[in-house]
Amino acid sequence: MTPAIFPSRRAWRGLGLLLAACTLAVRLPAASPAPSADVEAGRKLFRDLCSNCHGHEGAGAMAPSLQRPRLTYAPDEATLRVVIADGIGGRGMPRVRRWSEKELRELVAYVQWLGAVPATPLPGDPAKGREVFNRVGCATCHVVNGQGGTLGPELTAIGRMRGPDYLREAIVNPGATLPKGTLPVPGRGYDEYLPVVAVTRAGKEIKGVRLNEDLMTIQIRDEQSQFHSLRKSELTRLDKLTGTSLMPNLSAQLAPGELDHLIAYLASLQGQP
Ligand code: HEC
Ligand code: HEC
Repeated sequence: MTPAIFPSRRAWRGLGLLLAACTLAVRLPAASPAPSADVEAGRKLFRDLCSNCHGHEGAGAMAPSLQRPRLTYAPDEATLRVVIADGIGGRGMPRVRRWSEKELRELVAYVQWLGAVPATPLPGDPAKGREVFNRVGCATCHVVNGQGGTLGPELTAIGRMRGPDYLREAIVNPGATLPKGTLPVPGRGYDEYLPVVAVTRAGKEIKGVRLNEDLMTIQIRDEQSQFHSLRKSELTRLDKLTGTSLMPNLSAQLAPGELDHLIAYLASLQGQP
């Protein structure tokens, strides 16, 4: 025995406490950083021009939460400036307007500050949510990690793309808002998955969802997953069923609490590592 080299239990505990105090000291300012003047000015701009998509305090809505330490398209300050200044083409993130150098600096400061805001924990349990997802048949229309049907958008990274309130709305009120930025083909800012009915001159009816559209043509995927690209001049009818969705409202099949579990599960889907 060499008690001099092996510290006593008490000494270990002392060391543990010291380490805990150190991490606390290091982490506290990061968890609640005091906003600078730039951050405060950026917050105001953000509230007026960005929160309609990114949610209150950037917590996520149709657009992703920015309360994440590392952003997909903006891993550092230089890329963050570019994303805010130019938007992300075809992904639903617009070039909001032209910024002065000062405004751009303030927005960058605010978004960086958001990165240190701890995300609010959700009430549900993701593991239970996954069971609910499989039980009520969500997977028949949605791919998660390579498994599932393709009538609806892939959900593998949905927790990174959308905030919890949006996810709730998508389940209890399909059609109220339609997705943006989910298709591999860059869209033109249109709502995706809008149900449409097209009738050709030959009298053929095509029912499905709009994948894309321009002045002359429309691209539709029908309910059998067949792709159609149609010239509008060759159609006798083109109905856009705004406000509707091919997604059924399954919320009546959920027991109390299960909606929260489902949302927690969807929020946990952060894309394939
Ligand atoms: C019309 C809706 C909309 C508005 C307004 C909007 N954004 Fe976005 N933003 C999006 C969407 C959608 C994405 C995600 C694109 C993707 O993941 O493909 C995004 C992505 C981003 C990203 C990158 C996130 C990441 O994970 O890489 C940043 C940063 C960002 N937005 C900041 C802003 C700021 C700052 C403003 C206001 C000046 C703003 N956005 C306004 C829709 C919007
Ligand atoms: C019959 C097919 C079908 C079933 C079943 C279905 N969905 Fe959908 N889902 C869709 C379609 C189509 C869309 C796109 C239109 C829309 O948003 O309403 C969609 C959209 C969504 C979105 C929004 C995606 C985005 O990027 O904005 C979420 C989230 C979602 N579904 C979750 C679920 C969950 C959870 C279930 C099970 C409770 C489910 N879906 C069952 C077809 C389906």
